[in-house]
Amino acid sequence: MASLSFLPKPISETSHIPTKLVDHLPFSHVAYRNLSFLGVGSRSFGVKTTGRPLKEIGVVKNSNQTETLVDSQTPDVPVLSCSEAIERLKTYRENQKGKQQFLAMYSSTFGGITTDPAAMVIPMDDHMVHRGHGVFDTAAIMDGYLYELDQHLDRFLRSASMAKINLPFDRESMRSVLIQTVSASKCRKGSLRYWLSAGPGDFQLSPSGCQHSALYAIVIQDQSPFDATGVKVVTSSIPIKPAQFATMKSVNYLPNVLSKMEAEESGGYAAIWLDGDGFIAEGPNMNVAFVTKERELLMPHFDKILSGCTAQRVLTLAEGLVREGKLQGIKVGNVRVEGR
Ligand SMILES: Cc1ncc(COP(=O)(O)O)c(C=O)c1O
Repeated sequence: MASLSFLPKPISETSHIPTKLVDHLPFSHVAYRNLSFLGVGSRSFGVKTTGRPLKEIGVVKNSNQTETLVDSQTPDVPVLSCSEAIERLKTYRENQKGKQQFLAMYSSTFGGITTDPAAMVIPMDDHMVHRGHGVFDTAAIMDGYLYELDQHLDRFLRSASMAKINLPFDRESMRSVLIQTVSASKCRKGSLRYWLSAGPGDFQLSPSGCQHSALYAIVIQDQSPFDATGVKVVTSSIPIKPAQFATMKSVNYLPNVLSKMEAEESGGYAAIWLDGDGFIAEGPNMNVAFVTKERELLMPHFDKILSGCTAQRVLTLAEGLVREGKLQGIKVGNVRVEGR
């Protein structure tokens, strides 16, 4: 266990609330007084800086500076009614010029489907949001069909079981909800993403205060065709997840995000993880496979990584290629960076 000797004072005496906002927040974000609504095209939506430097607005310090009282006399940030907040969410969405379009969302917390992106939100007290207690999966939408929905749904339920999340409905009802969400979206080409969460309830660690688990699903219009000319990859310096977590599709993707960013920083598309023994494992959101000069298909086995539906499909199709003599064989096992 890490030593706590670096703490200058006992933990009970150490303030976790910044006593001076200007010491703890980037100057450009909050270090000004008179914050007002900013509607259009800003990354720091809702906050506009208007001049005078902030000198501890709304806080009063006691003499030894370990506690901060909040004074409610300085309402610089608007306090909004529900309809005002929704209006602002609408404005935010209308001005957001992202590459992706969100066509429909289902939420078991409001028990329906919406096609209005402003309403595609999940509650802040959902344990998936503040504790990462959630799992997810996807399915491609091709020409109005869901590709391998059942294979993805099986993995989704396996992940939920590993994460100890009870299902809000049975499998058939969830399947039906997913299909109806895609139908309401009118999407012909894109992707369906869906999440099972321990659910809303409180801000504790344990999900015991969550009354129901929650199902969310969203349909995203595809606008970026995959570049089939090939991609550059590097090996990842971010530690690979332990097998227990890598084999389930939980929402804890920070290592995957950092790995992807590491690749992009060096001009690559993805960074590939090696496992603890130095064998090739997987990418941050894809499996990997190789065809050798001897026309053998090599694929890492799935005991420490996610069992990808695409990889499983490749293995099935490869069997046909072996029968046709186009591949010499298929090997699922340890794959070294140097080759075999
Ligand atoms: C870590 C990881 N490995 C592999 C995959 C590939 O899985 P699939 O082929 O089922 O999309 C994904 C997909 O997102 C992933 O996140």
